[in-house]
Amino acid sequence: MTLLNSLLLGACAIGAAVAQLQCGTIEYNPALYSCYDGDFLCPIISGDATKKCGDACYDADIYDCKADSTLAEKPAEDNPFTLIAHNPLYYGINGKVINGCSRHFFLRDLPCAYCPEGIGGLDCSMFSENATVLGGISGLMTTVPGGQLFYIEPNGALGFTQAHSGSYPTGSTFGSVKAYEDGEFIIPGTSGWYACGDDNQIFAALPGLEFSCIPLRILTAEWPYGTPVWQYT
Ligand SMILES: *[C@@H]1O[C@H](CO)[C@@H](O)[C@H](O)[C@H]1NC(C)=O
Repeated sequence: MTLLNSLLLGACAIGAAVAQLQCGTIEYNPALYSCYDGDFLCPIISGDATKKCGDACYDADIYDCKADSTLAEKPAEDNPFTLIAHNPLYYGINGKVINGCSRHFFLRDLPCAYCPEGIGGLDCSMFSENATVLGGISGLMTTVPGGQLFYIEPNGALGFTQAHSGSYPTGSTFGSVKAYEDGEFIIPGTSGWYACGDDNQIFAALPGLEFSCIPLRILTAEWPYGTPVWQYT
């Protein structure tokens, strides 16, 4: 488990850091590390404290520490969920909801949605249109026949298909994400996500791409209110 090894190496290398507190025999900077059990340091990464499990440090949004002090990947999120931006170092974006609009995703309060009033038997007032809800690793929760899918564009943009159309940018990737229950929304092998530009558009930190944007992680939040839209636009 490379991540954990590098976290551990990080913890051993703190001797040179600005020392303010004592953890066992080691001095450490509490802005960079947490001390567990009086003698075990785990790094704080992008404002989030990793936790201790046995002899390892771990990200509690991806792993659970089992009773025997071994790590297990958290369960996949099987229920519908929304996406929440997370970066405690950026007050302006931390905890903001992520919604779809114009076939892309942004930090914004509401999705762009449409319901065709006047279709026989369809009551558009049943749609709250107040969230962008995902189900599984490539679907959006919609009502429109044919549904709508989400995917990663070659430039990293998180995108979704238009209703009644299966089209997407050439080279886009479907189903590459993992969503953990009460945890994180990730693309394995990437370092997270970015919010870019004035409208805070969401991009995946795909290997080989460079961004000068705000880094963030994305957390999942279960959505118990049913399908909120006819379709996203
Ligand atoms: C969205 O709308 C549903 C249904 O009206 C409501 O129960 C829920 O609290 C709303 N959620 C948000 C986040 O606005």
